[in-house]
Amino acid sequence: MSPEPSSSRLVSAVRVEDDAQFEAGLRPRTLDEYIGQDRIRENLQVAIAATRQRGEALDHVLLYGPPGLGKTTLAYVVANELGVPIRATAGPVLERPGDLAAILTNLREREVLFIDEIHRMAPAIEEILYPAMEDYQLDIVIGQGPSARSVKVPLQKFTLVGATTRTGLLTSPLRSRFGIVHRLDFYTDADLEEIVRRSARILHVEIDDAAAAEIAGRSRGTPRVGNRLLRRVRDYAQVRAEGQITIPVALAALKLLEVDEHGFDEVDRRLLRIIIDKFGGGPVGINTIAAAISEEKDAIEDIYEPFLIQIGFLDRTPRGRVATPRAYEFFGLTAPARSSTLW
Ligand code: ADE
Repeated sequence: MSPEPSSSRLVSAVRVEDDAQFEAGLRPRTLDEYIGQDRIRENLQVAIAATRQRGEALDHVLLYGPPGLGKTTLAYVVANELGVPIRATAGPVLERPGDLAAILTNLREREVLFIDEIHRMAPAIEEILYPAMEDYQLDIVIGQGPSARSVKVPLQKFTLVGATTRTGLLTSPLRSRFGIVHRLDFYTDADLEEIVRRSARILHVEIDDAAAAEIAGRSRGTPRVGNRLLRRVRDYAQVRAEGQITIPVALAALKLLEVDEHGFDEVDRRLLRIIIDKFGGGPVGINTIAAAISEEKDAIEDIYEPFLIQIGFLDRTPRGRVATPRAYEFFGLTAPARSSTLW
């Protein structure tokens, strides 16, 4: 049986169609409403207040980290806190240099341009960004060959907010042009619980603290997953109970949804089992894992691995990926004895 594509998994961190509409309603609008990522919140608060006082444009901001942790949300919050409109696009959407040039020339002073998946811009388009970010100007080459000349078009002072899953995917000229760079981390269970409770309030569904904690604990440190689980549990509560999400209701719903205590699904389990069963627990290279479980290497590196590493089930060593004793324990197995150099 071929595996389900990662986007259709209930606990996938990747945005699926259904999410966008719901996320818009649940999205915090201010830094005060934003839960978690405290260090980033505080840094942005200071930077935004300072630039507002000076009447300047905020420095360009790069946000990176696994999907579903709130990079887009944060971009909208930044624009809102700056009191300016936001124009949103994405790397793969910008096909010709003219697409980006048109957006840039239409930005007004201090406005925010958000580019999601900024690492997926074509090199010719990326080059337009360099002088735009650094000197607020476009360098346009007119003509070809010996008669070609370069024309500089001034731009308004704007703020670029870029989002990517890993900074390593960015070229260094692009990375170096961001004055503010933040990595979003997985959320703590306590923060996720607060997010689930806040979302339940917005969705007008009653939820016990214990039930919110149960959903939070199975959300892979990811608000998008937490909010998605909440919506499914709400359905269950409405149809099989009296609409209230109590702990027995949450447990029954999550059991029916086949979401286990860590929020693992089929793909996580397969990934770990392959390393354990076929490769003696590792080390094994990422390409080999990708082929063995029929998932894309990028998806494994961006989506599955970061969470498995974070919860201590997987280790990344110079010689490849290794399943940890914890992973063995999870499957009721005993980890093989290893030389200490591997750990
Ligand atoms: N919904 C999704 N992410 C959130 C966050 N970080 N804070 C509050 N609500 C959220």
